[in-house]
Amino acid sequence: MKKILFAASEGNPFIKTGGLADVVGALPKYLDRKKFDIRVILPKYLCIPEVNKQKLSYVTEFYADMPRGREYIGIFQAKVEGVIYYFIDNEHYFAGGSPYHEIFEDVNKFAFFSRAVLAALPELGFRPDIIHCHDWQTALIPVFIKEFYGNDRFFGKTKTILTIHNQKFQGRWRIDDIENCRDLSSDCRYKAMEAYHETNFLKAGILYADQVTTVSETYAQEIQFPEGGEGLEGVLREVSGKLSGIVNGIDYEEYNSMTDPKIPFPFGLRNITKKKKNKEALQKELGLKQDSSVMLIGMVSRLTEQKGFDLVNFIMEQMLNTINVQVAVLGTGEDRFENSFQYFAQKYPQQVSATIGYSEERAHKIYGAADAFLMPSQFEPCGLSQLIGMRYGTVPIVRETGGLKDTVEAYNEYRQTGTGFSFANYDAKEMFKIIQYAYDVFCNHPKEWQQMMKRCMKADHSWQNSANKYEKMYLELIG
Ligand code: ADP
Ligand code: GLC
Repeated sequence: MKKILFAASEGNPFIKTGGLADVVGALPKYLDRKKFDIRVILPKYLCIPEVNKQKLSYVTEFYADMPRGREYIGIFQAKVEGVIYYFIDNEHYFAGGSPYHEIFEDVNKFAFFSRAVLAALPELGFRPDIIHCHDWQTALIPVFIKEFYGNDRFFGKTKTILTIHNQKFQGRWRIDDIENCRDLSSDCRYKAMEAYHETNFLKAGILYADQVTTVSETYAQEIQFPEGGEGLEGVLREVSGKLSGIVNGIDYEEYNSMTDPKIPFPFGLRNITKKKKNKEALQKELGLKQDSSVMLIGMVSRLTEQKGFDLVNFIMEQMLNTINVQVAVLGTGEDRFENSFQYFAQKYPQQVSATIGYSEERAHKIYGAADAFLMPSQFEPCGLSQLIGMRYGTVPIVRETGGLKDTVEAYNEYRQTGTGFSFANYDAKEMFKIIQYAYDVFCNHPKEWQQMMKRCMKADHSWQNSANKYEKMYLELIG
């Protein structure tokens, strides 16, 4: 039995701010449990919802030497569908209303978490063959393991993998100001960890990890060039021998149009026309004009620049005035996008609904009800929302970047193939043209549209294929 530990800053079903939590919560369930003993370790944030906290039980506590002195480390655990989750407790670091705060706090907090993970494993008697780290928050685990535990018998054979879910977030701060990195050798701090005169957690992880992966094949290429590398393209090209892309899947149990308790009218391929009832119900709930012939465009997203909302903003007025569409948005993020959607919702109450906030319930309802799902991202490492939408027959309209390019096949009206609509350049007019095209197919070729919905629902974006690729990588790495 090979032992794998996932280390991450968020994970379903305990704490989620985005797709990372979906991946951490789902992938372990799909790995072959006969070959792998797979466990997950997360911070025990104060902001974990109370119902979830009640599922945790106390395991042990101890003190470890760290630059600040003797630090308390409590360990809690929970079991979800056979997967053990550990939680590192220390309220000095993990207090506050959300997992992430100011970057200068976060770098020190996640350096602590990474050290605490390594300190906890011997206490737990769990000696992983592989520690699979996710994003910059845990990217220092490969560094600490090699710098501090190089000759240690416990970790002697442990390998590390770093999966990059978003190259933009690197964990950068002033080199001398991160207390929990102070005792690393100066060679490490001023060379391996340094990028552009700052400490860069992601860069250090990329160099120290035995394998580096990202969440789609196209993104694995894009980050090796200036358009996607966010300044680290040179480093990534240098390590390209150990870099690969494995596309994400989605949890087919959580997102299932036939059994989803969060949508009012579950439906499947056989009764696909029932999806309309979900649209009517949502229109009513959101106060939109109740008309099932209108094309409803859904968006469930962090409202940030990455997701292409500049383009959406630019065409909203024109789109609402020229084609018969409705827009239902759910998200939180930058003020400018929250405000502009609220503005449009006020100005066009029959056509636009903006829910500013986070709601699983509403997210499912939008996926279940919308005709199309708009995701014109500037860049997208993988993207899960388009996959979730497809599972509910919601046809994606996306920009051809990263995982969107790998998972959405453009509609071909001559061959009657494809699972969505896509455009290439980050350009509002180009996007609007493709929305108009989708609108034309929706209104004037309803049979073709329905066939496309079916192709979306049949497309296999479950975790199984990708889980097999991870398993292969684990076994090769362990040797
Ligand atoms: P990212 O991780 O970059 O935010 P993904 O598409 O990979 O983008 O994953 C986003 C996940 O977060 C999806 O499961 C999506 O449904 C969910 N999500 C995003 N915003 C919200 C929100 N406001 N309410 C509920 N779920 C949300
Ligand atoms: C990041 C990316 C998103 C990806 C998710 C899970 O948040 O922005 O594209 O799907 O991680 O890997």
